[in-house]
Amino acid sequence: MKIKAYGSTSPDSDLAELSIIRRDMGNDDLLIEILYCGICHSDIHMAHDEWGMSAYPIVPGHEIIGKVISAGKNVSRFKVDSIVGVGCMVGSCHQCPACDKNMEQFCPNMVMTFGSPDPFIAGQMTYGGYSTHIVVPERFVLRVGAHLDLTRVAPLLCAGITTYSPMKQWEIGKNSVIGIIGLGGLGHMGVKFGKAMGAHVTVITSTESKKSDALALGADEAVILSDDQQMKKYVNHFDFLLDTTPVLHDINPYLQLLKFNKTLALVGAAPVSLHSMNLIFGKKHVSGSLIGGVAETQEMLDYCAEHNILADTELITVNDINSAYERVINSDIKYRFVIDMASLKH
Ligand SMILES: NC(=O)c1ccc[n+]([C@@H]2O[C@H](COP(=O)([O-])OP(=O)(O)OC[C@H]3O[C@@H](n4cnc5c(N)ncnc54)[C@H](OP(=O)(O)O)[C@@H]3O)[C@@H](O)[C@H]2O)c1
Ligand SMILES: [Zn+2]
Ligand SMILES: [Zn+2]
Repeated sequence: MKIKAYGSTSPDSDLAELSIIRRDMGNDDLLIEILYCGICHSDIHMAHDEWGMSAYPIVPGHEIIGKVISAGKNVSRFKVDSIVGVGCMVGSCHQCPACDKNMEQFCPNMVMTFGSPDPFIAGQMTYGGYSTHIVVPERFVLRVGAHLDLTRVAPLLCAGITTYSPMKQWEIGKNSVIGIIGLGGLGHMGVKFGKAMGAHVTVITSTESKKSDALALGADEAVILSDDQQMKKYVNHFDFLLDTTPVLHDINPYLQLLKFNKTLALVGAAPVSLHSMNLIFGKKHVSGSLIGGVAETQEMLDYCAEHNILADTELITVNDINSAYERVINSDIKYRFVIDMASLKH
């Protein structure tokens, strides 16, 4: 099926309307009409080939909310008109140790929603959510509350799970003192989860004007990264730090803020500089975290519904995507752009 999409044809080109082919539905698949798609910084890294793994044309988008318009005969959990979510993955092997543990994100054959070789169409890459429709196996489709503000649910599919998963892994709870580095799409969800889990949350931001936003989002404190005097107050202070920074940066100053034997989790996908002395003295840990498995993503969506957690979003049309990318790159974000995909059909 030939559909409209929005994507780019080279690392330097703006995104523009494209025509792409969606595969035919199989018995286990859903055909989904896409209603909303969030803009993650990973979309921008990939569109600009910043990780050296992009193939063109590229159609980004992995924070998808849509409506089922057709269901294969083996589909049992959804029916026509169900409102559903699709996140960062659309396939895995279902046989390896990672799949067995419901951590499909670490499957060697995990298929990303966009930018992976398409297992169904030889020679074609998968195309993401900046498009009118998508075909997805039921196993990778999430249940969402149709009564919720769906524009604000979309970012949970990546920014939500990417912050929820490491915070669960490192057992953030009532007595935790945590810091969120970078107040963007991921960071603002980190603040919301931290507060919901009962932690004392400090935002560490490079943008002066975000200090008041951080407090409005629920953070207990906010500190400006470049203010050495203020930063000194937080030495040996945190039980956990979540670093969402999307560019090359030095994590040594952050490691000094951790208490001994505590962890900084990197989710920002960029190189860092690190001196081992800052780990050795204090037996500190640096960890990475990649989205979450399908079951954990459903758990996170249910947790959000229960705790009234939604992303703060700005709704845009496809014509605004390039200017939104500029704003994300400039850290000028409040706090996730979401594309109204109906704007692609007219
Ligand atoms: N591990 C995973 O599974 C996973 C999943 C999704 C995304 N990611 C990665 O996580 C990173 C953050 O994604 P996001 O969507 O939250 O990005 P975002 O909305 O752009 O937020 C990143 C924030 O980092 C801070 N920052 C510091 N220096 C910056 C600089 N030079 N340029 C831009 N921002 C800077 C900014 O906050 P302040 O203004 O407060 O400093 C910015 O708002 C990206 O690298 C993305 O690819 C990883
Ligand atoms: Zn993402
Ligand atoms: Zn597997």
